[in-house]
Amino acid sequence: MNVTFRGRTESYRTVSFDASNNSVRLIEQRLLPHEFKLVTTKNFRETARAISGMVVRGAGAIGATAAYGLAQGALAFRGRDLKKFSRHVNIVCHTLATARPTAVDPVNAMNDIRRAMSGGATVAEQQSLAQAAAEAFANEDVAHCEAIGRHGVKLIRQGMNILTHCNAGWLAFVDIGTATGPLYAAQARGKKFHVFCDETRPRSQGASLTAWELAQQNISHQIIADNAAGHLMQRGQVNLVIVGSDRVLGRTGDVANKIGTYTKAVLAARHKIPFYVAIPLSTIDWKLKHGFDIPIEDRDESEVLGAWGINASGQRQYIRVANPTSGVRNPGFDVTPAELITGIITPLGIFPPKELWQHRQRLGINE
Ligand code: MRU
Repeated sequence: MNVTFRGRTESYRTVSFDASNNSVRLIEQRLLPHEFKLVTTKNFRETARAISGMVVRGAGAIGATAAYGLAQGALAFRGRDLKKFSRHVNIVCHTLATARPTAVDPVNAMNDIRRAMSGGATVAEQQSLAQAAAEAFANEDVAHCEAIGRHGVKLIRQGMNILTHCNAGWLAFVDIGTATGPLYAAQARGKKFHVFCDETRPRSQGASLTAWELAQQNISHQIIADNAAGHLMQRGQVNLVIVGSDRVLGRTGDVANKIGTYTKAVLAARHKIPFYVAIPLSTIDWKLKHGFDIPIEDRDESEVLGAWGINASGQRQYIRVANPTSGVRNPGFDVTPAELITGIITPLGIFPPKELWQHRQRLGINE
């Protein structure tokens, strides 16, 4: 997407690969919205640390980062022994897959790359297939978000107020975003609408990332405190909810997404407001049978006890807010059951969540 920072406008992807020096280039998302900076990771371990440290975050973006990280790790291997190479690739995959547990996209992305690599007869062939497949995964992520925009735009009517939670915008993908895809398509068609961004404590991805993205694209929006959505829904001020997801179960239609999504889905059902989840195909998990089987990341207590921001001199600072002697429980995600979801917006159309399984051949089951 186009980014205007300090008066200069340029187009960026969230993640890209520099083959000339085998490095992965990322937007340093922890600094946004106050600073726009690019960073590079020089080897697959640094790439995994960028995922676990949340330099890059969001299901599609960490999927593409893991894909590039796998290519990066494969390309760094020296030698011709295929067995040694395969052991090395296993370590690379394990390191990247365990960097964050809830989103399934990194695992699906790396499965794609490994399938492509298996077509190579030598280490050199497999290395170049890995690089091409990682690039293809990133390009497909962009194409999926574009297609989601084309399908989801039909849900947006003139004058609507749309609620979104966390960040399923372009920063959470390679470009465009899933929850934001329909918004950009509606804007391009001249539709007028307004977006409420849930602040999304504890890390505030809605307030810092989604709001920044929408401001960059001149989309009318306001940040609301997480607790404000029920009040606005009760007064008829929310007409539609669109969120992203970190893992959708193909068998049941249950949806893991940022903590607080379940609460919003319950509220939306109470007020009969349509609740949609927008995902690329890499977010579908065809294996797990129950929503409660999805691994939920437990995050550091510092996220709940305080917050990062900038001070009056523009320096980044952590401010402690909470009572210093209290403990913390900080689950990063929750699971919204299929019955609370109106539809899943995919690149191939909008499906009732419980009908994903019957369309599994079309939606790309390949396990
Ligand atoms: O912890 P994060 O920021 O990586 O969480 C991911 C998310 O931003 C959300 O859960 C999002 O809604 C789905 S990811 C496209």
